[in-house]
Amino acid sequence: MPQKEKKRTLIIVSNRLPLSLKKIDGSYESSLSSGGLVTALSGISSSTNVRWFGWPGINIEDPEERKIATKALAEKNGVGIFLDEKLAHSHYNDFSNGIAWPILHYQSGVSFDEDAWKAYQRVNEIFADAVASEVQNGDLVWVHDYHLLLFPAYLRSRLKELGKTNCPIGFTLHTPFPAEDFWRALPVHNELLEGVLACDLIGFHTDEYKRNFIECCSRGLDVKIEGGDIEYNGNKAHIGTFIVGIDPQKFTDGLLNPPVQQRVKDLEEVYKSKVVILGVDRLDYTKGLVQKLQGYEYFLQQHPELKQKVVLIQVAIPSREDVKEYQELEKELNTLVGKINGEHSTPYGTPIVYIHRSVSFTDLSALYRISDICLITSSRDGMNLVAAEFVACQKDRYGVLVLSELAGAAAFMGTGSITFNPSSGQQVCDSIYKAATMSREEKKTSYENLEEFVTTNTRSLANAAFTYPSLQKRVISTTMTSR
Ligand code: ADP
Ligand code: F6P
Repeated sequence: MPQKEKKRTLIIVSNRLPLSLKKIDGSYESSLSSGGLVTALSGISSSTNVRWFGWPGINIEDPEERKIATKALAEKNGVGIFLDEKLAHSHYNDFSNGIAWPILHYQSGVSFDEDAWKAYQRVNEIFADAVASEVQNGDLVWVHDYHLLLFPAYLRSRLKELGKTNCPIGFTLHTPFPAEDFWRALPVHNELLEGVLACDLIGFHTDEYKRNFIECCSRGLDVKIEGGDIEYNGNKAHIGTFIVGIDPQKFTDGLLNPPVQQRVKDLEEVYKSKVVILGVDRLDYTKGLVQKLQGYEYFLQQHPELKQKVVLIQVAIPSREDVKEYQELEKELNTLVGKINGEHSTPYGTPIVYIHRSVSFTDLSALYRISDICLITSSRDGMNLVAAEFVACQKDRYGVLVLSELAGAAAFMGTGSITFNPSSGQQVCDSIYKAATMSREEKKTSYENLEEFVTTNTRSLANAAFTYPSLQKRVISTTMTSR
């Protein structure tokens, strides 16, 4: 009798696990992590044959406690890679979010730090050791994002030493990839590229990011490029653009839940005489929140006749609070919101409702549903899934998407949105005005374009990852649809 073939396991590796651990009353509880990566992969972690390796958000020194936490994560297919607090801080805050993130998002003035770079290398090694020892021949490894750019090469060499040579490695970047002259500003730019080039498949969200990456490789390294493949150091990787979609049904089903319906009803009553403009962003300088508020203030000043008729509800989800730039931004936003509300509020209402905390899925869905405009002002953004979530919740309301032309989503959702350059406060203001005064007919036509995109570019992650025809050779990603 032929031996039953072992089912391959999909090994997802990302810096942050989809669940973050918190110690509550002596036991460990997990809560959903926020951000585009978790949304893009939602659903997949509960599939069978998936194991997700990552940092659980806290360090636990005590071996007994670690066991309890490990068990809690394993129940949800998670494998925690525990890191010494100082090392985790240096890898995550100092290098990944203090150096790599700003370069990937075209921020100048980044200063390189050797200690942070060492920590980055060390954490990538620790991840490679942890995954290499657990992976079995035939498993697929799928790595995510800029925290782990060195990881693929480290993993490849460890797997080779262990004789596990049949484990394809895929990599997906969830941020932009910048132009070559910008990327070169990073002293370790080639080392990072070499790390990624050890993969079988490398995925970007847009053609522009893919082109930039290829350009950086061909200028910096001795690579051979043929069609969609790039060969370096004896390894051939396929490079592709993959659109990240959401699961719109999660939202449409969610909207049928009585608690969400109640929340929609309540909010509709509160805002019945207002045009609601919604912003949902992590509190991050790449989201252009200062520019959003300034542009909105111009709107209030230039269109006094509409002043009492609009409200901006801005959800700013706390993010990376140990990084200096994020702390400064938080203060700046508090001041700006206070200033605008101070100047423009009346006894009948305030122009900005500022929610600086994480909101529940019920509240988020209800806000998407009742809003008339979704305003996205990112100065750079890998994709931006909020745009798609807003569209999924609108249906016959035909809400207007006002979308920065510098967000990855604009490459796909530009038709149907009002696009603008977010560095110009005047353009932000004019775009809000246009959206607030559009006829229902115009809104309907625009909305239908967006809806088609959101409902077409959707796939069950598990299906996409497990049934792609050439999976034997390549790891194919996500909710992503190959173009
Ligand atoms: P980024 O990846 O930069 O955070 P995106 O717009 O692509 O930006 O993704 C943000 C994601 O975070 C969205 O899917 C949004 O629904 C999700 N989100 C927002 N608030 C919360 C929350 N409180 N908990 C979990 N996820 C959240
Ligand atoms: O979009 C880029 C990204 O790093 C995602 O990978 C992640 O989901 C999100 O930002 C939030 O980041 P963090 O893990 O730092 O909270």
